[in-house]
Amino acid sequence: MIGAGSSGIAAAKTLHERGFEFDCFEASDRVGGNWVYKNANGMSAAYRSLHINTSRERMEYPGFPMPPSYPDFPHHTHIAAYFDAYVDHFGFRDRITFCTAVERAAPEPGGTWRVTLDTGETRAYDALMVANGHHWDARRPEPAFPGAETFAGVQIHSHEYLGDDPDLFRDKSVVVLGMGNSAMDIAVEASFGAAATYLAARRGAWVIPKYLFGKPLDQYAASPKIPFAVRRKVMQTLLRIQVGDMERYGLPRPDHAFGDAHPTISDDVLSRIAHGEIAPKPNIARLTERTVVFADGSEVEADVVVYCTGYKVTFKFLDEDVISAPDNDLPLFRRVFHPDRRSVFFVGLLQPLGAIMPLAQVQSEWVADHLAGRYALPGPAALRKDIEAERERMFRRYVRSKRHTMQVDYDDYLAALEKERRAGAQRALQAGGELPLPPRARARTPA
Ligand SMILES: Cc1cc2nc3c(=O)[nH]c(=O)nc-3n(C[C@H](O)[C@H](O)[C@H](O)COP(=O)(O)OP(=O)(O)OC[C@H]3O[C@@H](n4cnc5c(N)ncnc54)[C@H](O)[C@@H]3O)c2cc1C
Ligand SMILES: NC(=O)c1ccc[n+]([C@@H]2O[C@H](COP(=O)([O-])OP(=O)(O)OC[C@H]3O[C@@H](n4cnc5c(N)ncnc54)[C@H](OP(=O)(O)O)[C@@H]3O)[C@@H](O)[C@H]2O)c1
Repeated sequence: MIGAGSSGIAAAKTLHERGFEFDCFEASDRVGGNWVYKNANGMSAAYRSLHINTSRERMEYPGFPMPPSYPDFPHHTHIAAYFDAYVDHFGFRDRITFCTAVERAAPEPGGTWRVTLDTGETRAYDALMVANGHHWDARRPEPAFPGAETFAGVQIHSHEYLGDDPDLFRDKSVVVLGMGNSAMDIAVEASFGAAATYLAARRGAWVIPKYLFGKPLDQYAASPKIPFAVRRKVMQTLLRIQVGDMERYGLPRPDHAFGDAHPTISDDVLSRIAHGEIAPKPNIARLTERTVVFADGSEVEADVVVYCTGYKVTFKFLDEDVISAPDNDLPLFRRVFHPDRRSVFFVGLLQPLGAIMPLAQVQSEWVADHLAGRYALPGPAALRKDIEAERERMFRRYVRSKRHTMQVDYDDYLAALEKERRAGAQRALQAGGELPLPPRARARTPA
């Protein structure tokens, strides 16, 4: 197992409970990954003020609720503490090897994996579970904007933003680029100290509030039994009533229907725009030594540019010809099983409309069923057909962007997985519970 963030601990808990032999390697000195502010692994994108934007009821692991004292949208310190409590509650901390990064995982003939650690040690495993996260490798604009190399001000990516330096924005002119959640939070934060804050975007987004009629918006029943088109229509109408059109705030009109992009959630940004504290702008066209020029030809003095332009999906420990995700695209069967490599499993490598954690737990249980011979995959042709159909549906629906390569609808995904697990359990019965990997499923050292 690679990683003990919120996805890796869900997988480790499952393997621990089911009695598998496994090692979980974590580069950091603690669990929680992204949710550990200033994480020793240098990979966390958390900033000082970060709160979750998926409500706690959507985010908590099945069977392990967050403490009742937590608010609906807890602070990152609450979330990191919750992950720690999860590990202690289920008693598997000693199964995690901390301060140990996997440097390389190479497939061997026969499907086993040769794993090299940063301690220099090499071990062999029957299977690899990958839970290394997908929000740590910053994607800056590619290619860089003309003039970026001679711009005299500060240019950072949102991943570098810690929110602990009051001087970064104070009395400065700040340009924030992007319409995702990082851009919303950072533009709002900048607007409280900066002389001027500009929010630049190459396309519009539906900015949705955390609450609708006093209840976290993501807790509104979104039963997969109701056709998506109907659910979309209802939500879009409710938002029109509560929020209104984006153009009314001076933001670009979204070029897509509600639900066809990863949700941009902010209670504050529209209010700061309404107060004149954030000025919407089109995309950046170029930078000069002291200014930013936008696509409409307008130009502003700028001291700081914050690129909130998303992340790359990267597996540093895998050779590119083994497994990689060019343009963030890695086709997998229901976001877990690789079509060609049957002894590698991905956990949490998906972007739900909803939180990742409960899905990571269900994915882990599914993999454990498979390893125990209680779930059998469909045949290779059916598996590929399923992957292709799912990709086609996703790409048809979502705005073409490197941020939309692994989108799932939370409730629909869970329902589909439950159905697939039942079908696979039948197949496994028919196959007499045949094991997909050698029954030992345990570490053998040294290689
Ligand atoms: C600013 C921000 C806010 C977010 N807010 C939300 C939210 O509100 N709700 C939500 O559901 N999602 C949110 N996300 C998405 C985020 O990806 C998930 O919340 C969550 O962190 C995913 O957990 P993970 O375990 O998959 O990845 P991570 O949290 O990134 O953890 C990966 C772990 O793997 C370890 N690791 C990586 N490589 C190696 C290696 N080679 N060897 C050993 N260990 C390794 C890392 O040290 C780390 O501990 C947010 C993302 C960002 C950037
Ligand atoms: N809990 C929270 O409050 C919180 C806070 C921050 C982030 N997050 C989560 O963290 C993840 C990453 O979010 P993110 O906002 O950092 O990234 P993101 O969702 O990938 O958004 C990137 C934004 O940058 C734009 N962009 C990308 N490349 C560009 C370019 N070259 N020029 C102009 N614009 C460009 C994208 O536009 P296109 O759409 O056109 O590609 C998009 O608007 C998401 O899952 C998000 O929900 C959560």
